[in-house]
Amino acid sequence: MTFDRSVKIAPSILASDFANFGAEIQAVETQGADWIHVDVMDGHFVPNISFGPATCAAIRPHIKTVMDVHLMIAPVDPYIDAFAEAGADIITAHVEAGPHIHRTLQAIRASGAKAGLALNPGTPAEAAAPLLDLVDLICVMTVNPGFGGQKFIHSCVQKVTELREMIGDREVHIEIDGGVDPSNAPLVVAAGADVLVAGSAVFKGGSVDNPAPYGDNIRAIRAVV
Ligand code: DX5
Ligand code: ZN
Repeated sequence: MTFDRSVKIAPSILASDFANFGAEIQAVETQGADWIHVDVMDGHFVPNISFGPATCAAIRPHIKTVMDVHLMIAPVDPYIDAFAEAGADIITAHVEAGPHIHRTLQAIRASGAKAGLALNPGTPAEAAAPLLDLVDLICVMTVNPGFGGQKFIHSCVQKVTELREMIGDREVHIEIDGGVDPSNAPLVVAAGADVLVAGSAVFKGGSVDNPAPYGDNIRAIRAVV
């Protein structure tokens, strides 16, 4: 993976057909997705369960772009190697997931993956300050994690501005996750974000048999940023 700050759209397969991940991934990549965002939920850190490393390994061969794995699990450390072996390019852990996030980020990099740090809406930008040299991506949650299709929380945009300032020249992506659509995408990009996760806003109206709406939806976001 080479680093750049161009805007990247990362559809979340949480909003796709769970019986058809391979075909859904191929469809959104053909329609212009830059990365594929993979939401892992454990029913403990967040109140919902999605899937784990075995599913990640199964979908990996279908991803031609970047496999961006967002771990909404606690604990994280016992599972890092399993997600790295499943082929994750980026593994993101939550700062709120445990007391030893510094160790977790070191372990992610040691696994060979890029390290991401996610901040819940209730967590201030300062929580990332001691960790900036250990991360390749900061994920600013703009909903409380656990479910797709929630409303974007506007008060999180200020955090993006603060993080962009804190990051300076470091090669660290700022990713926005939750409720992203064409109405709010320009705000977060102007504040300094370069990766836009979008579940509902990309997958709405389409299917593997009718993928054109995926392309329309991706272009609708790209057109406004
Ligand atoms: C929320 C997940 C998000 C979510 C995005 O817990 O981390 O990635 O699925 O979906 P939308 O775009 O529908 O909010
Ligand atoms: Zn996510």
